[in-house]
Amino acid sequence: MSSNQIALKNLVSMEALSNEEVMALIKRGIEFKNGAKVHYDDQHIVANLFFESSTRTHKAFEVAELKLGCDLLDFDVKTSSVNKGETLYDTILTMSALGVDVCVIRHPEVDYYKELIESPTITTSIVNGGDGSGQHPSQSLLDLMTIYQEFGRFDGLKVAIAGDLDHSRVAKSNMQILKRLGAELYFAGPEEWRSQEFAGYGQFVTIDEVIDQVDVMMFLRVQHERHDYESIFSKENYHRLHGLTQERYDRMKETAILMHPAPVNRDVEIADHLVEAPKSRIVEQMTNGVFVRMAIIEAVLKGRE
Ligand code: CP
Repeated sequence: MSSNQIALKNLVSMEALSNEEVMALIKRGIEFKNGAKVHYDDQHIVANLFFESSTRTHKAFEVAELKLGCDLLDFDVKTSSVNKGETLYDTILTMSALGVDVCVIRHPEVDYYKELIESPTITTSIVNGGDGSGQHPSQSLLDLMTIYQEFGRFDGLKVAIAGDLDHSRVAKSNMQILKRLGAELYFAGPEEWRSQEFAGYGQFVTIDEVIDQVDVMMFLRVQHERHDYESIFSKENYHRLHGLTQERYDRMKETAILMHPAPVNRDVEIADHLVEAPKSRIVEQMTNGVFVRMAIIEAVLKGRE
């Protein structure tokens, strides 16, 4: 039994986790990556309900659940009664009534999970796979795991988060927890997409002011499904003003790392040929996503014991 095996009722936001719980989940993810094995013999049913598109989060949760020996309940939004007007509450109430242990949910509505975790009838555990432009806690945890593996600490690290701040659930999840863990934060990107919400967590800068000083350069995807960015920027202009060009990559410290939650809009946020460059940890982030999600599912299943 590892001291990093914690119990959680649900996992819906980073604010809901203490620093100790965050560190335990990161370290448990690293233990899984290093070969720790858990394979449940008794039945644990998990349903992954994705009401918004996903490759990484959806499939990494599936792989994590399969590795743990969970039973996966297929749920396809397109062929479900959602098309007959069933509400999210009623879908999850049904999952709970059927005996599903954990529902991993991605949904476009910010804070969709509140009525689910407050319901006295719904007993299934909720894991947030992303709520609109609200939170993305499993992405945040895999980002933290990637940073921790690289530097072994957060305290004093200089982290720049650059791009579509306002529409990014990744930025909002990460800024809160990184500040709490002692990192120094900088926010770069178009002024049109940076609300004052960010000012409480770090300093607004231009990418060129900080690119040669930071330890972590984290780019955000331009959320073109949430707004019409091309009415403000052409792809070329965005890349030139706010993206990672070869010249900016060369100015990054030798020890600095490049991160992006992906999918990357290649040649917009990051030049195509730099996505897998030596300083990039983007592929590592995806791999770590499986192991940290094993830690998350283990924790919520333990919370049900
Ligand atoms: N990073 C991330 O959430 O990717 P998906 O939208 O593919 O899950």
